[in-house]
Amino acid sequence: MIVSPAALCVPSTFDALSIPAARVVAVNAAVVANFSAESPEWLRFSQPSQSLVNANFCNVTITYTHPGQGDNVSVETWLPLDGWNQRLQSAGGGGYGAGRFDGVYGAMYGALADGYATSSTDAGLLPTPDPSGWAHVSPGNINWYNLQNLASVSLGELATVSKYVISRFYGKNPEYSYFNGCSQGGRQGLELAQRYPDAYDGIMAGAPGIRLPEASPALLWAQQLMREAGEYPFPCELDTVVQAAIDFCDPLDGVVDGIVGEPYMCLEQFDASTLIGREITCAQTNSTMTISATAVQVVTGTWQGPSTLDGRQLFPGPLPGADLTGNLPYSVAPGPALTLCTEEGCMGLDNVPAQQWVQLWVSRLETVDFDNLSREEFLRLLHQSRQWFGSVFNTNDPDISPFQKAGGKLITFIGLADNAILPTPLEQYYQSVSDVVSDVDGFFRYFEVPGLGHCAGGPGSLPIHLFEGLRAWVENGTAPEHSPVTITNLEGGIEERIICPYPQKPTFNESCAETGSRECWTCS
Ligand SMILES: *[C@@H]1O[C@H](CO)[C@@H](O)[C@H](O)[C@H]1NC(C)=O
Ligand SMILES: *[C@@H]1O[C@H](CO)[C@@H](O)[C@H](O)[C@H]1NC(C)=O
Ligand SMILES: *[C@@H]1O[C@H](CO)[C@@H](O)[C@H](O)[C@H]1NC(C)=O
Ligand SMILES: *[C@@H]1O[C@H](CO)[C@@H](O)[C@H](O)[C@H]1NC(C)=O
Ligand SMILES: *[C@@H]1O[C@H](CO)[C@@H](O)[C@H](O)[C@H]1NC(C)=O
Ligand SMILES: *[C@@H]1O[C@H](CO)[C@@H](O)[C@H](O)[C@H]1NC(C)=O
Repeated sequence: MIVSPAALCVPSTFDALSIPAARVVAVNAAVVANFSAESPEWLRFSQPSQSLVNANFCNVTITYTHPGQGDNVSVETWLPLDGWNQRLQSAGGGGYGAGRFDGVYGAMYGALADGYATSSTDAGLLPTPDPSGWAHVSPGNINWYNLQNLASVSLGELATVSKYVISRFYGKNPEYSYFNGCSQGGRQGLELAQRYPDAYDGIMAGAPGIRLPEASPALLWAQQLMREAGEYPFPCELDTVVQAAIDFCDPLDGVVDGIVGEPYMCLEQFDASTLIGREITCAQTNSTMTISATAVQVVTGTWQGPSTLDGRQLFPGPLPGADLTGNLPYSVAPGPALTLCTEEGCMGLDNVPAQQWVQLWVSRLETVDFDNLSREEFLRLLHQSRQWFGSVFNTNDPDISPFQKAGGKLITFIGLADNAILPTPLEQYYQSVSDVVSDVDGFFRYFEVPGLGHCAGGPGSLPIHLFEGLRAWVENGTAPEHSPVTITNLEGGIEERIICPYPQKPTFNESCAETGSRECWTCS
């Protein structure tokens, strides 16, 4: 057990920090005593829920600026006064927030309760996932320094500052350093492996928002299809088509449990056109109606992803099983094809963060009329977005051999039913790394989680034991061959499953009687 005196928890302990190309402007340090808070699994993604009870820790916040850039970046580090496990776990952000906001603090409570020193950076932005307060320096002019701080610059500095604070307080460096995040936080994790290969020993990158300059406009694609059709279907129509795909494709993975384990096979085999004209009772109107041809086209077109008028796909779409409206059971987030309906009919609801991306950064001064975009205009925005922001924000450099050489271990996972950040670009990224780096399996593993939505939700569960697998890999060299998860089956019961490192898949042993038992599943 490592004990450090509370007397060291004063600003002067931390006043000799030097950060390359930056100047420290403020140091805060104070003991936080008898602090309790909950850390639910949906804020820690790859770790189980944890309670922080009557904790005593030193709260150190170091603020620095990159002279001339007018920024103020703060790194907040919490140091247990007793019981430090000699490790660092930094927490990633979400939305357009880098860290140091409520959800991220929620993740840090759990890390602290597990004995870690834990840290987070705000990248000089505001304590919210909403970027509108910091995107511009003046109307139409992008604050590129802020964007760059979010994209990458703040991340290497997060590791530098956290390790400095730890070494000053405990008199030694952490034995192992970890980064954990999902969505924006997952992207930060991959960016760290790509641009700061020495910063962390173990990185857990959940549902990483890679190729964000394309992924953001692509989230508006379903609405574009409805706009072009001049018709907005009821959510009940769209949900029925998605549910029919789930029902049809559920057995393709060998087990009927309400989960699509083979979504690509599903895309090939499921014919949605048979649903046109089917009579349903609509949840939104409480009356009988028939499924329109437009509803079917919107669902299949959304799966296809943004495409040219002659059908060339420009970015992948979500997979069958993903909730396109956000109205299916278990959903935690609005889907890309959500519509809002009254007796007069329905209107579309664009994804707000995706709209913000296009308006604030791609279009800037010219107000985008999202209710009236031609295909040509839509594709032009997609192209401009990639053109202008790819080098800053793509986070898809396949050559992560420097991270491999530094001895790092990287795990990434994504829900196959994610409706915001999509599995296909991540699978493509994993393939691209495999193409240019040898022995990828020795340091980088990719897990697909059947039935999981965007960092939460869906009939599949979060892979809450995966972080423990990362630790065993980093510290003991034991690579994660699989990891336990659960699913909620068609009857609402909980069944045990495993997830597997890509390209392996969980396979059910036919001679096993109990589908719900973990022993019946292997990776192959
Ligand atoms: C710590 O907080 C609890 C309530 O959460 C309180 O009952 C207890 O007296 C406090 N202990 C100290 C040492 O302040
Ligand atoms: C830690 O200190 C920072 C800066 O003073 C403050 O904003 C934050 O709320 C503190 N956190 C806790 C848990 O006390
Ligand atoms: C940065 O923080 C320092 C110290 O808190 C403050 O004096 C300064 O005004 C801040 N600068 C900006 C640009 O916010
Ligand atoms: C956009 O609006 C203009 C004028 O209001 C109209 O002529 C045009 O057809 C609209 N375009 C689309 C794609 O709806
Ligand atoms: C590593 O192995 C040791 C010895 O078997 C064990 O005590 C420890 O818990 C393991 N650590 C992790 C992170 O798995
Ligand atoms: C499948 O299950 C049967 C019966 O429980 C068992 O005997 C067999 O070893 C299992 N096969 C595999 C590959 O796990």
